[in-house]
Amino acid sequence: MKRRLVSVLIGMTMAAALLGGCGGSSNTATDEAADDTAAEAEAEGEEAASGDLITVGYAQVGHESDWRTANTENYQNTFTAENGYELSFVDADNDNAAQIEAVRSFIQQELDYIVIAPIETAGWDTVLQEAEDAGIPVIIADREIDATNFDAFVGTNTVDEGVTAGNWLGEYLDGAEANILVIEGSVGASATLGRTEGFNSVVAEHSEWNIIDSQSGDFTQSGGQEVMESFIKSYEGQFNVVVCQNDNEAYGAMDAMDAAGITYGVDGDVIIISFDATHDGLQYTLDGKINCDVECNPIQAEVVAGVIQAMEAGEDYPESTIVEDSAFVAPGIESAYAITMTQEILDGRAY
Ligand code: AHR
Repeated sequence: MKRRLVSVLIGMTMAAALLGGCGGSSNTATDEAADDTAAEAEAEGEEAASGDLITVGYAQVGHESDWRTANTENYQNTFTAENGYELSFVDADNDNAAQIEAVRSFIQQELDYIVIAPIETAGWDTVLQEAEDAGIPVIIADREIDATNFDAFVGTNTVDEGVTAGNWLGEYLDGAEANILVIEGSVGASATLGRTEGFNSVVAEHSEWNIIDSQSGDFTQSGGQEVMESFIKSYEGQFNVVVCQNDNEAYGAMDAMDAAGITYGVDGDVIIISFDATHDGLQYTLDGKINCDVECNPIQAEVVAGVIQAMEAGEDYPESTIVEDSAFVAPGIESAYAITMTQEILDGRAY
């Protein structure tokens, strides 16, 4: 298997154009490689349990957010029998131990490839070593990990997402004071750690900004609402910015502020920054309720399939592919860091 030690930055439109034909049935080099593999197996008298299909295990984080649902659907629509794959999908329900066990079961089943969207950054060395010992290539997707014994990474740059949020806030406030509450994502997740690191690096440049408090909302709507309710109890009247590390948390935070009679968005007292830019998040942005929504693109399965196809063909493949993100702001806001929302953008947002 060949490896190219470079990072590739890819926009999803470009990814679709480049990799849309990467399914087993539409790539000549891949078809030839798959045929060779099947012929060898036959010659050795081995039983090809799933015919010519490439078996892929996907250990998914869970179903905590709209982003996650879109990401799951993207995998299920990409790794199909029609495209030459048999997908084993496990929803780990945000349970780190269950996710590691899912990977172990993929190893026991001797699947051809393992894809992991890791819940937490820590704790992966041992099971990844087991996969390596079994000769099964592993692709880490969506979130990063501390371990380095895997074959390829496909995901977004969450530190950059946090920096974009901070830069946009600096531009919007133009020197005005910020008293900030942060609803973080799940503890130990790279999406949480990266966005926090990126945003805080911009906060450090602004002596007129103060982070009042920061608590985990676990990337869920109920978590966002619960944290915001407790923030309101402790800090009502003291904050003018709420940063929610995903859209679902923002929906919960807005519900809590509605119940408390606190106004937010472009015409309100509190600026809301969110992450993900899923369809409903962008609807709120278009409506002026969310001021700025920084994208985290969940459509990554085609890129992962492209890496697998390159591995199958014994070709060079990117060790790290960073899926590019944009950011979106409410109508009436002009920004050097974000695109002003329109109905047309919303209509084109499928997830
Ligand atoms: O890892 C990506 C993050 O996980 C998304 O921001 C969030 O919505 C999801 O649950």
